[in-house]
Amino acid sequence: MNIVPLADEDRASVRILELACIREYVEGPMGRKWEEFDLETRQKLGASASGSFAHYRGSGLSFVAKEGGRIVGFVFAQMMPWIDGIEKAVWVENVGVDPEYRRMGIGYMLLKHLALEGKKNGAQVVHSSISPDNVSSLLMHKKLGFLAEDRKIAYLDLGKFA
Ligand SMILES: CC(C)(COP(=O)(O)OP(=O)(O)OC[C@H]1O[C@@H](n2cnc3c(N)ncnc32)[C@H](O)[C@@H]1OP(=O)(O)O)[C@@H](O)C(=O)NCCC(=O)NCCS
Repeated sequence: MNIVPLADEDRASVRILELACIREYVEGPMGRKWEEFDLETRQKLGASASGSFAHYRGSGLSFVAKEGGRIVGFVFAQMMPWIDGIEKAVWVENVGVDPEYRRMGIGYMLLKHLALEGKKNGAQVVHSSISPDNVSSLLMHKKLGFLAEDRKIAYLDLGKFA
């Protein structure tokens, strides 16, 4: 298994995998039906969506795990100039692993690779947004050393905000 930078030619495969991971979360912890999301909404979901793929590919901080040429995991991330008064912070947008390849350490290795690469690029911290009901993700982050207690990111949708 290799961890390599996300490349343009990974787009189609990583899109399928990221959407499958999102669908799993929607139908699992979120308890909603995938069919509730119309095609237009689905097309916008995830970092691999057409509007954001190039941004994450170009961030230098997005990676895929490949097993015999097949993409079995991904992490999309970017460097933020400042977060919480700290200059240079890696922001993890999404991380996921093919269900057939889970519990083999791939998610952990992707996050670790990202953290080390971020550090090499001057980052002081890594931020990652995790839903409290996503136990596997929470435990994976904790295994790497993330502090997750008492942390929440509040969110304001500016769509209808005036
Ligand atoms: C979360 C996810 C990325 C973990 O990937 P993974 O490759 O299976 O994780 P790893 O094998 O690297 O596990 C690392 C550690 O995380 C914890 N962990 C991962 N999955 C777990 C599970 N199902 N139950 C309990 N602990 C789990 C364990 O502590 C594990 O270490 P261990 O195997 O030594 O006990 C994967 O389950 C996934 O893709 N889920 C769907 C997408 C998702 O929720 N992404 C996170 C968005 S924030």
